[in-house]
Amino acid sequence: MQFTSLFVALASLAACSAAFTFERINKNDSMLLVVDHQLGLFQLVRDFGPEEYRNNILAHAALGKVFNLPTILTTSAETGPNGPLPKEIIEMHPDAPYIKRQGEVDAWDNADFRAAVKATGKKQVIMAGITTDVCTTFLALSLVQEGYTVFANADASGTFNVQVAANANDRMRSAGVNVVSQFAVATDLMRDWRDTPGSLEMLPFFDTYLTQYGFLARGHAAAVTNGTLLPGESDGVLAPLSLASQRADSDL
Ligand SMILES: *[C@@H]1O[C@H](CO)[C@@H](O)[C@H](O)[C@H]1NC(C)=O
Ligand SMILES: *[C@@H]1O[C@H](CO)[C@@H](O)[C@H](O)[C@H]1NC(C)=O
Repeated sequence: MQFTSLFVALASLAACSAAFTFERINKNDSMLLVVDHQLGLFQLVRDFGPEEYRNNILAHAALGKVFNLPTILTTSAETGPNGPLPKEIIEMHPDAPYIKRQGEVDAWDNADFRAAVKATGKKQVIMAGITTDVCTTFLALSLVQEGYTVFANADASGTFNVQVAANANDRMRSAGVNVVSQFAVATDLMRDWRDTPGSLEMLPFFDTYLTQYGFLARGHAAAVTNGTLLPGESDGVLAPLSLASQRADSDL
């Protein structure tokens, strides 16, 4: 009996100490990895349309530029069918370490890559690669094992189909990888629209890479600088037609 109540007390103590800790992305303590976003491998990606996916990998690389993050580029056997990186990514990061792996599938197996990651001195890793299940997952799991906190940008990792991506993301999550959207990465890096980078830098970023938010901001700017309300649009008048007619009915 006493033993049982001791057990219950210990169990509830354990539940208390297992409280969730929200580890935010800290722009001062993070690095960006561009993993095998190669022209040949790009052809394998079928869980995004090609235009959307090109946009997403360019946006991923651009996050390193906007937030001035230590950025590392790596490729797998790039003189073979996997091919080189898109020139846009190389041009964005002319001074970044560029590790051309000759054979290692998991980038962590390459000593130069490991040295480049360690040389950043950062503990958080924002990464994406082709394919999600191999290049992203293998490296993400290796990094978690090494003690890094990993944020896998799901919008910039691509693979053969949606099911393969879902299984890979489940595998990463169960190892403690944060599988996150590009919007979540960008806004957690920014934290506050009044910071630098803040709205001044990020609205142009979104206008380039996240059309919905760019157009939302453009529409707002157009309304503020030169908008007029149409008849029926003004505050108080605007209501679904059915509600408006119900109101009219009940007035009768
Ligand atoms: C990053 O470093 C700057 C300068 O030290 C500091 O003002 C800012 O609060 C830091 N940001 C975060 C998210 O810790
Ligand atoms: C504002 O709207 C008016 C009328 O629609 C138009 O003539 C004018 O060119 C617009 N100005 C700007 C700055 O867009």
